[in-house]
Amino acid sequence: MIPTLTWTPEGVRFIDQTRLPLEESYVLATTYEQVADVIVTMVVRGAPAIGVSAAYGVALGAEKSAATTAAEFAPEFARICARLAGTRPTAVNLFWAIDRMKRVFGELQARGAGMDEVRARILAEAHAMYDEDIQACKTMGAYGGELLPDEGGMLTHCNAGALATCGYGTALGVIRAAVEQGKQIHVYADETRPFLQGARLTAWELMADGIPTTVICDNMAASLMRAGKIKAVVVGADRIAANGDFANKIGTYNVAILAKEHGIPFYCAAPWSTIDTATPNGEAIPIEERNAIEVTHHGGKQLTPHGVGICNPAFDVTPAKYVTAIITERGVLRAPYAESLREMELVAK
Ligand code: MRU
Repeated sequence: MIPTLTWTPEGVRFIDQTRLPLEESYVLATTYEQVADVIVTMVVRGAPAIGVSAAYGVALGAEKSAATTAAEFAPEFARICARLAGTRPTAVNLFWAIDRMKRVFGELQARGAGMDEVRARILAEAHAMYDEDIQACKTMGAYGGELLPDEGGMLTHCNAGALATCGYGTALGVIRAAVEQGKQIHVYADETRPFLQGARLTAWELMADGIPTTVICDNMAASLMRAGKIKAVVVGADRIAANGDFANKIGTYNVAILAKEHGIPFYCAAPWSTIDTATPNGEAIPIEERNAIEVTHHGGKQLTPHGVGICNPAFDVTPAKYVTAIITERGVLRAPYAESLREMELVAK
């Protein structure tokens, strides 16, 4: 399995996703500040991977602290959480993971725990999130794989694969599971301008698994759909609002509209940690605006004239009306999503 992020006695080891696919190299983060940096610079990216990375960042912060009790550690714990929470605003898994750490720490503080226990308990929670993430991907993969046709081309956007999670992937987990179920799948991967997660990462990880893959430029999807080459679309999500609207990599919305126009099913696969019932709809989802250099430059070379205006929102919102089903580890949800999400949440409680 691709080692997206690994806890080691020295720190957290990340495969450097800014260098893939031409170079497979690793970055070791030994402090929580370094974990925050690798999230901001997208050495690690993808909503579930960001969440678990932040959890390990909190664990590193606790490990490096000179405090001797939970009470003494409390102000530092708050600073660590705030720094990690300030890295990327859209992926709700980040805030979900930090909130989970806050709950654990709150209990330890209330009991007057010492730092040895704090360190052990926080690290155990991060490990639990890591394991749960892989399990969630496999479970949603099994549900989602059943929905895909027995053969044909599947379009995906960005990278919602092993590299975006602790392993296996969400959208690519669905595709992996369909292949394991014996389906003859050919993946079309949108290149995903400007950061090229599709061309670089999705292509790399699917080729490693021997799954037939073709990279297309983002503006080619419509004509492939019209030619009958795309039988279904499967994408991931950074945040799913209470009404089923969801944020994902910029360009997902375009693909959803195209799928609707061509009568192609459009699936969104995500773990429950991506569902944010506190956000009522897509309009309330904060959208990260990234540095213009991602658009103006590629591979260190400038593409655009000096001084031209640049817009670089990292995500867009796909309205729920375009979504055929939301695939989670708890099951497959159908419209109306406000009801199905609420019901599924109640069942799980
Ligand atoms: O900016 P990124 O690369 O972090 O964006 C990633 C995506 O948009 C993914 O599709 C999403 O996080 C789901 S990952 C399982």
